[in-house]
Amino acid sequence: MPSPPEIRILQSPLELFEAAAAEFTAQASESVRARGRFTVALSGGSTPKSLYALLATTPSIPWDKICFFWSDERHVPPDHSDSNYRMANESLLSKVPVRPDSIFRVRAEEKDADAAAQQYEQTLQQFFHLSSGDVPRFDLILLGLGPDGHTASLFPKTSALNEHHRLVVANWVEKFNAHRITFTFPVLNQAACVIFLVSGPDKSPILRQVFEDSSANLPSQHVRPTNGRLLWLVDKAAAGNLSGGTYFAAIPPPLP
Ligand code: 6PG
Repeated sequence: MPSPPEIRILQSPLELFEAAAAEFTAQASESVRARGRFTVALSGGSTPKSLYALLATTPSIPWDKICFFWSDERHVPPDHSDSNYRMANESLLSKVPVRPDSIFRVRAEEKDADAAAQQYEQTLQQFFHLSSGDVPRFDLILLGLGPDGHTASLFPKTSALNEHHRLVVANWVEKFNAHRITFTFPVLNQAACVIFLVSGPDKSPILRQVFEDSSANLPSQHVRPTNGRLLWLVDKAAAGNLSGGTYFAAIPPPLP
């Protein structure tokens, strides 16, 4: 039975990123002690950039034992300003002694988005030595929350929401008139720990919906690790609209 979701409301963005960095560091040390490595999927967007910059200056992280993946990527080359890989590389990976062969980015320069998604799925299958039908178990998956309730690149009313077998898909997002390459719910819900990082007043309306509106059926409400932790780290501004009622009343049990 999954552990109940946890929420931590931090007083400021700085405290938020410090709390996230402490979680990352503790989990990295524990995973390396227990399994010799730490597998983490990074999120994109703007919010985690401050976390990555803080981690780049955080001592005692076993960088050479960490394997980096991305929970989603924009369909752009790695040097493009919209690239999630580029953001993480500039704010973190280029500044710490990570092994180059432990960075598994999405080959999003591939013209055919479906081919890029299949390639990344194969990368997961090879890295985690998966047999057909198996789902990888990441030690940690970082996620953000979009103003429409999307997470990774699982946007409302998109086909990837109904994908229960593939690990990675190319998801057509009408409003961007573009594909996104994204992990699917099976991968997100197989993780040992999922951390949502949410900051700023503009996220307060959607955060309230996620936690308190069970009829909203938002993609981020369907992230419920079946056998893992779900931790929401949010700052006070983002939590500004929460009624203080029973959080998570709206978060349904994990998908079957
Ligand atoms: C992306 C992300 C996406 C992001 C949310 C929140 O590629 O954009 O993975 O899911 O986490 O859109 O984005 P912000 O942090 O920029 O608000």
